[in-house]
Amino acid sequence: MSQFPIYRPRRLRMSENIRRMVRETTLSAADFIYPLFVVHGKGIKKEIASMPGVYHLSVDLLPQEVEDVAGLGIPAVILFGLPAAKDPVGAENFAKDGVVQQATRAIKAAVPELTVITDVCLCEYTDHGHCGLIKGAIGGNPECCASSVGLPDCCILNDETLPVLGQVAVSHARAGADVVAPSGMMDGMVGAIREALDDAGYAHVAILSYAAKYASAFYGPFREAAESPPQFGDRRTYQMDPANAREALREVALDIQEGADMVMVKPALPYLDIIRQVRDAFDYPVAAYNVSGEYAMIKAAARMGWLDERNAALESLIAIKRAGADAILTYWAKDAARWIGGVA
Ligand code: PBG
Repeated sequence: MSQFPIYRPRRLRMSENIRRMVRETTLSAADFIYPLFVVHGKGIKKEIASMPGVYHLSVDLLPQEVEDVAGLGIPAVILFGLPAAKDPVGAENFAKDGVVQQATRAIKAAVPELTVITDVCLCEYTDHGHCGLIKGAIGGNPECCASSVGLPDCCILNDETLPVLGQVAVSHARAGADVVAPSGMMDGMVGAIREALDDAGYAHVAILSYAAKYASAFYGPFREAAESPPQFGDRRTYQMDPANAREALREVALDIQEGADMVMVKPALPYLDIIRQVRDAFDYPVAAYNVSGEYAMIKAAARMGWLDERNAALESLIAIKRAGADAILTYWAKDAARWIGGVA
């Protein structure tokens, strides 16, 4: 290898044009998936305190919103719903007039070509806030769930949750969802959803699995936005231990075997190594979720005048792309699409 002074890396950094010419990674609006929090009611656009620039939106405001999103070249949105009421099973999750079902129909009517992805999970809909059914709630052993020592294993009813997830996915597909995204980290969820979709005549609906989803402190603001914090215990018996990387590859392999079309790593920035390993190990599209806490950190620092939001956000997004992500779920999708004006 030629060395200094023969080789001077700075020669190729001398102008923006030359930097552009040798740039290894680019961002495009087509990389982004924009999350939307949909609520019942009319004319509601309410900012989420810990996520400035992110709103609860009622269904009637969605057509305008998704026209903006599509106009910016963003190919997809992912929907999270806040139900009118919560119960042990989360009945609105698979109701024909559930908020996500209504939102999906409204978006598809307004901008049919925009890809609608729906998050498939129980936590926003259940009164206990967990991603699976729990024993106490359906006549099992309430003491088990009431334990103050974290969340005991016996509490989450993994296999009993699977048909509910299948039902939710089918009801989203029926409303017009193009892609369903199971995020609850239940074992077997992808297989159960694939089978339910196929049986109901939705073989064409794709599955984006939250395959390697970690039990992360960075979901804090989202749980405020989605009103979905667990009412007792935590999610560590189903979401992954942040210390584990090899296990992520097993999780991804399983989801692919069960029929996932795309796999997700979540969060993104603290898990760039996982994104890279998944990209290298599997020839499947990889998505990464630049989560609420990653967004809130930069927003807060920018408000304090400690960071430049635009530069910090774009650097985060390019890093996620460079690590190997094909698609990035990000609350900056609209801003970033504007900032880069197509491609950067
Ligand atoms: C639901 C779900 C969560 C997120 C996406 N889907 C929260 C959680 O697991 O508690 C987090 C997204 C974010 O923080 O931006 N299971």
